[in-house]
Amino acid sequence: MSGAASTVLVTGGAGRLGRSVVAGLANAGYAVVSVDRDLAPEDAFPAGVIQERADLLADGEPRRVIEAHRPDAVIHLAAIAVPFSAPEEVIFHTNSRLAFTVLQAATELGVRKIITASSPTVLGYGAPSGWLPEEFPLSEATPPRPWNAYALSKYLAEQVMEMFTLSHGDRSRYAAFRPCFVISPEEWDGAPTQQGHTVTERLADAALAAPALFNYVDARDVSDFLDILLQKMDTIPNGQTFFVGAADALATEPLADLLPRFVAGSGSLTESLTGTSPAFSIEKAQRLLGWEPRRSWRSELSTATADGQHPPENPTTDTPAELATASRGNQVNP
Ligand SMILES: NC(=O)c1ccc[n+]([C@@H]2O[C@H](COP(=O)([O-])OP(=O)(O)OC[C@H]3O[C@@H](n4cnc5c(N)ncnc54)[C@H](O)[C@@H]3O)[C@@H](O)[C@H]2O)c1
Repeated sequence: MSGAASTVLVTGGAGRLGRSVVAGLANAGYAVVSVDRDLAPEDAFPAGVIQERADLLADGEPRRVIEAHRPDAVIHLAAIAVPFSAPEEVIFHTNSRLAFTVLQAATELGVRKIITASSPTVLGYGAPSGWLPEEFPLSEATPPRPWNAYALSKYLAEQVMEMFTLSHGDRSRYAAFRPCFVISPEEWDGAPTQQGHTVTERLADAALAAPALFNYVDARDVSDFLDILLQKMDTIPNGQTFFVGAADALATEPLADLLPRFVAGSGSLTESLTGTSPAFSIEKAQRLLGWEPRRSWRSELSTATADGQHPPENPTTDTPAELATASRGNQVNP
């Protein structure tokens, strides 16, 4: 019961990630208010969770809902979460406005802890004009180079968070986090992921996970991360951004072998990604917060198998290089 007596308002609480965050924080003892344009089914959440329907793009709505519930913390998830799923200017306008107005209202109303969701896409991988980092694993020190409206809007959300840290960091604590490709509990059981295919299909065909550089995270691990972040925000430097990913890659062979087939020129950079190492480091969250992801596709899919889903038949199967071409157009959030 880590969050006893603390009220958290989660925007986008009815979404893919939001549902696990709302349920996880409620189970951890927080009083949770979910604010979303949509209502989640009642049985999605433990008893006591308040759901409020609101369009946070409407003038004054962020301020109205935060003022109504006077939370100790705001976690801002509401967004258009898939690149190219709407016209570029709509994604940019929606996500940027939501991030600014929600963080502004929370700041002006004196909310003590304010967290916003960003995305690993800020780094710019997959850019049609080419992309190559200086090194792997990628970390919070890797320079962001967003190449589409979604990634740019998420980078802007981080900058908004940093702006308020500079202007109001004496009163409130701020943070941003970049969740990797989110897999919710039902998706281990075979429900389609954000990209329409199943986790099993994503594992069996490396071209499906390649656009996200094989990153992923269990939604419940993100909820655990946010619980720990809320507890420790007062004791870490203000205004931090964190990658939040699984401890391994969503791949059946080492990324040292896989990544060079999909990221041109990355061969010598990926040599350290042996075994099950992911392309994204979570060392900062481990070091500053003591957070550890507890779920892996290796444990979660084998649990799901008992319910009828089947992991890839040959977990060491090579993926032909030609499959890299299939990844074009697979616009993945992280
Ligand atoms: N799912 C991922 O793999 C992933 C990866 C990286 C970052 N993220 C970020 O995490 C957050 C949550 O992503 P998700 O996958 O749960 O997305 P989602 O689309 O499932 O959920 C987003 C929620 O926001 C709500 N929303 C959108 N506009 C709103 C508005 N104007 N007013 C009120 N509610 C509104 C939607 O109704 C939806 O329930 C987003 O900010 C996304 O960019 C997600």
